[in-house]
Amino acid sequence: MAAEEPPTPPAPAESGGRTAAVIPAAGRGIRLGPGAPKALRHLNGTPMLVHAVRAMAASRAVSLVVVVAPADGAGEVKVLLDEYEHALPERTEFLVVPGGDTRQESVRLGLDALPDDITAVLVHDAARPLVPVDTVDAVVEAVRGGAPAVVPALPLADTVKQVEPQTGGRPEPVVATPERALLRAVQTPQGFDRATLVRAHATVPATGEGATDCAGMVERLGEPVVVVPGHEEAFKVTRPLDLVLAEAVLARRRANDGF
Ligand code: C5P
Repeated sequence: MAAEEPPTPPAPAESGGRTAAVIPAAGRGIRLGPGAPKALRHLNGTPMLVHAVRAMAASRAVSLVVVVAPADGAGEVKVLLDEYEHALPERTEFLVVPGGDTRQESVRLGLDALPDDITAVLVHDAARPLVPVDTVDAVVEAVRGGAPAVVPALPLADTVKQVEPQTGGRPEPVVATPERALLRAVQTPQGFDRATLVRAHATVPATGEGATDCAGMVERLGEPVVVVPGHEEAFKVTRPLDLVLAEAVLARRRANDGF
């Protein structure tokens, strides 16, 4: 009789420890037009960053939220979180750290601030203030179930073309049309086994604008990344029209449940 296979050792995130969310919020958000830094723009009278912090803290699995603030604005962001303390759950701890020149650097600075007992990490863009708690919980559950990296994502509505970019507004030749059914638009929070994400940040060089997606860095390590269903309300507030959509989502929530 063949010897029984030894059980697979649990992935580190599976073997206990707490979950933290890191929110990179150090970007200027210039595509939104002139005005306050994007994370401090108001939606329904509350700064976008506070919505994003509340969205992470809404998950009972998340016991610490680390906000990565603009390098010269950490004090201001601390004051802001204190001001909205009444709107945030008491069970959650909050930390504010100064960020870097790129998103990749800001995330690494957030990771550096985590206490030792954190074994799973969510990375969530401040620019996605309305992600529902069910999406956050689904990501945490997949990481706690042993996946080293998890991304919420949705199928695409548009067909996507790969082009050869041209200067001066000249028409861009199409190079390829990837099969739409095989593509997904990726959202946040992305969830990680902490050790895997730390290794990705230590290994993948920060070149140019740096990585815009932590999961992509984990892919470069050769580790598996899995997708769970995203949510249409987890969209990224990037352009002026997105502010209108975000206000509409909040108005609907107010009408439905007094949020
Ligand atoms: O600019 P973009 O919308 O892609 O930024 C994604 C997220 O990364 C935003 O929440 C932004 O505040 C953050 N970011 C950062 N540090 C930077 C640049 C962007 O924390 N230097």
